[in-house]
Amino acid sequence: MYKELLDRLSREGILAEREYLYLIRHRDEARGYAAKLARKTCEDFYGKRVFIRGLIEFTNYCRNNCYYCGIRAGNAKCERYRLTPDEIVACADSGYELGFRTFVMQGGEDPYYTDEVLCGVIRRIKTNHPDCAVTLSVGERSFESYKLLREAGADRYLLRHETANKAHYEKLHPESMSFDNRQRCIADLKKLGYQVGVGFMVGSPGQTEEDLAHEMIYLKSVSPDMVGIGPFIPHRDTPFKDEAAGSAELTTFLLSLIRLTLPDVLLPATTALGTVDPQGREKGILAGANVLMPNLSPAGVRGKYLLYDNKICTGDEAAACIECLKRRIKTTGCEIVSGRGDRAGKEIQ
Ligand code: 5AD
Ligand code: FES
Repeated sequence: MYKELLDRLSREGILAEREYLYLIRHRDEARGYAAKLARKTCEDFYGKRVFIRGLIEFTNYCRNNCYYCGIRAGNAKCERYRLTPDEIVACADSGYELGFRTFVMQGGEDPYYTDEVLCGVIRRIKTNHPDCAVTLSVGERSFESYKLLREAGADRYLLRHETANKAHYEKLHPESMSFDNRQRCIADLKKLGYQVGVGFMVGSPGQTEEDLAHEMIYLKSVSPDMVGIGPFIPHRDTPFKDEAAGSAELTTFLLSLIRLTLPDVLLPATTALGTVDPQGREKGILAGANVLMPNLSPAGVRGKYLLYDNKICTGDEAAACIECLKRRIKTTGCEIVSGRGDRAGKEIQ
């Protein structure tokens, strides 16, 4: 049964929600075949190439209080930092030397970084490196703000929807945050012509297999350019500290389903996946992922951007990390390449 379903998913790029649910429930039998089809689909568009994005975690101040997140405003134990515009630009410059052609500026929702400040940084990076893409991951903002950032040169935006189930969203976030505003943000980003990335945590508290089946239908309807998923991992100073972590096995299986549902999507094997399983990122690539997002933040602040416990690569220099990743990815038969790594068919140069 799972074979027929996976074959049809591979041909048609969609299943009924109950069919996704069947696959999720039978994942232990289905995972091998799913990964095989997913890798083949990925290679039809991208070959053996794995793209890298240089992640610059430029602030861990955040006005929000998501129950799962280690940098939530309510975590008094979090040692806060901000990078100056000069420091952010310097990170991108050194990343360029290492071969990065995409920079992801990620931070908490920190009002210190006004449109003016962020636009200035984006313009400087794009002026220094016109052949690079700038991706923003700075949370919920107004349409007007997203518009200014886009006009300053931002190409892409990552805003995980976190869950496609409104009631579940409300279990993960305080009342000050809303499912509807998050969806509004995603719609605005698409309208403004960003390449948009959405995503969710696997195994977040209260998530059911039904929710995961629904995620696939949601993803198909949004048709994002990128999808970031990783296991939920508890952080000791959050309300979810005693909750169980999501598994690498379920995450890699979902990576395969996402690849088959959105064949040319950009799909990272995330740091969280590498944290719950030492071979997680390699397994993610073998299951159909084609992107890695190593850290370019200065060594002094890396250990402070902790969304969850036991995060890997917090002590390594960027150059060491990229060498390590190249070795690791070689074992999968794939190869890390330099370049912007646009979505297939949307290449700029
Ligand atoms: N475990 C795993 N992922 C997390 N994120 C935030 N906190 C955690 C956690 N405890 C994810 C969220 C967010 C992204 C930047 O990191 O999905 O959107
Ligand atoms: Fe960072 Fe291996 S990828 S040390």
